[in-house]
Amino acid sequence: MNELRELIESEIRRPSVFTDESALYPEYIPPTIRHRDKQLKQLVRIFKPVILEPGSTCIKALLAGPVGTGKTVTAFVFGREIVGVAERRGINLRYVHVNCSRSRNLVGIIREAKEILRLHIPDRGLSSNELLSAFLKLLSRENLHVILTLDEFDYFLNVAPPEDRYSILRLYDIFQDNVRRVNMLFVARGSPAGVWSRVDTMTGSYLMKNLIPFEPYKTVELHTILKDRVEKAFHQGVVGDEVVDYISKISGYDTGGDGNARKALAILHAAGKLADKDLLDGKASRVTIDHVRQVVSHEYPALVDLLDMINYLGLHEILVLRAIIQALKETGLDYIPMSVVESTYRRICNEIGEEPRKHTQLYIYVMDLKKRGLVLTKSSLKGRRGRSTYVGFGMAPLDVVLQKLETVINQVRIS
Ligand SMILES: Nc1ncnc2c1ncn2[C@@H]1O[C@H](COP(=O)(O)OP(=O)(O)OP(=O)(O)O)[C@@H](O)[C@H]1O
Ligand SMILES: [Mg+2]
Repeated sequence: MNELRELIESEIRRPSVFTDESALYPEYIPPTIRHRDKQLKQLVRIFKPVILEPGSTCIKALLAGPVGTGKTVTAFVFGREIVGVAERRGINLRYVHVNCSRSRNLVGIIREAKEILRLHIPDRGLSSNELLSAFLKLLSRENLHVILTLDEFDYFLNVAPPEDRYSILRLYDIFQDNVRRVNMLFVARGSPAGVWSRVDTMTGSYLMKNLIPFEPYKTVELHTILKDRVEKAFHQGVVGDEVVDYISKISGYDTGGDGNARKALAILHAAGKLADKDLLDGKASRVTIDHVRQVVSHEYPALVDLLDMINYLGLHEILVLRAIIQALKETGLDYIPMSVVESTYRRICNEIGEEPRKHTQLYIYVMDLKKRGLVLTKSSLKGRRGRSTYVGFGMAPLDVVLQKLETVINQVRIS
């Protein structure tokens, strides 16, 4: 028993790179969200009647967009804020967030909603519409208004029986209440067309009017989102700006990533875990770009993508890629200037007896590698001579890639 207590005590006392690791968990709701002002304003505009004339009508809206674009977190933050506003005006408004991948039919949804609201309805033996009716009566008795968010609604549309879909979408056509206490916020992954094709025309055209689209995040947007979390989750100085920059570039939609904030945060978290492990082994206590590289190659099959893409490259383009990775390894820098890429490339060509391509061709190769999402570039001002380009690489740890590239280069030269 004492041993266990000691183990717990020493685990709690052990140094860590994190101050509050939970700020990196996917379910964490931050105090403020970034870059979603437009969507929040649209939500306020659409749900305004719930505050001004509660019960007058049943408001419905649809949040739609690709994975990890902040739909769920935006719904939660909106819910939290609008409930606060209602409270100050003496309106009994509650926000209820139900995930349809857990509660897959009408009964499941109502059960979860009544639990969140702490309403007591004995549901045994009730049909789904009887349960729904009891739920509405209780809202009326308690004088409650709700915004019911049905998250992963695309899932519900796929699996729920047609009568359940109808009851949800046409609630007040079935229950002709004068006071309409339930408002709905549907959240769906993917394009709104998926929802449109599975609902009746009337609901569909109503929802399209109240559609709030979410776009994949750009690099600069992910940068601020990650930075906020770094401040919450890590000790000061543990995660440098270069690391945040790197993850943003790997994940940013405009730099070849998928614009998924969840994935970007997961990379940051996993890189932090690796740094934490290093700390335990008595090594450096900062999160480095190589931690990020390890995570990316381990967590995602990026290396497989890389090897696949190499099939489409010519020998000299592969040699340029190898030069970039070799130079990054030799210098230990996060990004290297084009001049270093060029000198390393020439050296490699020399070693294997290949005639190197000209300077301008080299630049075209690097830009092509960038377009394919294989390397990262950034430019910086360079005195009066204009901008100069720097090249980086984030798909996998350098050593692993170098080994693979060597094998590929030998194969290409033999064939
Ligand atoms: N604008 C933002 N500001 C702060 N954090 C954000 C923002 N957008 C997303 N996040 C964070 O990124 C993660 C993913 O966001 P969220 O779960 O809201 O995405 P989603 O669009 O609902 O994805 P899915 O379609 O997979 O359900 C969450 O941890 C969330 O807190
Ligand atoms: Mg979600």
